[in-house]
Amino acid sequence: MEEAGVRAILGAMFRPWICSGWALVLGACGGGDGSAAVSRADGPAERAGANAERRSSLRDDLRRALGGSYDEPLAFVDEHLLARGERAWELHCSACHGLSGRGGTTLARALPVEPGDLADPRRASFFSERAKLWILAEGSAGTPMTGWKEALDERMLIAVLAHMRTLVRPTPAGTEEVGR
Ligand code: HEC
Repeated sequence: MEEAGVRAILGAMFRPWICSGWALVLGACGGGDGSAAVSRADGPAERAGANAERRSSLRDDLRRALGGSYDEPLAFVDEHLLARGERAWELHCSACHGLSGRGGTTLARALPVEPGDLADPRRASFFSERAKLWILAEGSAGTPMTGWKEALDERMLIAVLAHMRTLVRPTPAGTEEVGR
């Protein structure tokens, strides 16, 4: 099938997910009326800009919604649970995010919003662990990232996040990002 055709079908499939679920919790969808949602019809620059805007406004919303707990560390994950997290990642997440977390899979490239490189240390520290747990549970509005709380309990979600931390490339000395 033509790549554009695949995109059209995926776009139609994912549209109903947009703004579902968590808009109720935060009282907003992607920071308002969903205008930050990104479309494949835009050029790469517009898409990248709109996606950066959407991510920032999601982070602001999550900071407000989670308040003092935004930066709270997650529960400890032992080796056994970490191994289960890795298996869940392979099974449920790698089709879009790639085994290495860098994305770029065939499915990722066909999505209306492409998952970024989750192994990039700057990207990995953009959201706090609590914020990622929330995104993992509820999904990220305006993107094909759906919520997983029906499929995986909180312990497993935390285990998958622990596995994701093992994928992050080390930050070269002296290039740490300041703040989040
Ligand atoms: C259908 C494809 C798809 C699947 C399956 C999927 N994701 Fe995602 N994920 C995405 C997209 C797209 C984004 C949003 C990227 C963005 O905001 O630019 C995302 C965002 C995220 C984020 C937010 C991090 C960030 O910096 O944007 C986390 C954490 C995450 N995914 C983890 C997971 C985990 C863990 C699983 C499996 C349980 C999973 N995803 C399954 C597509 C997917």
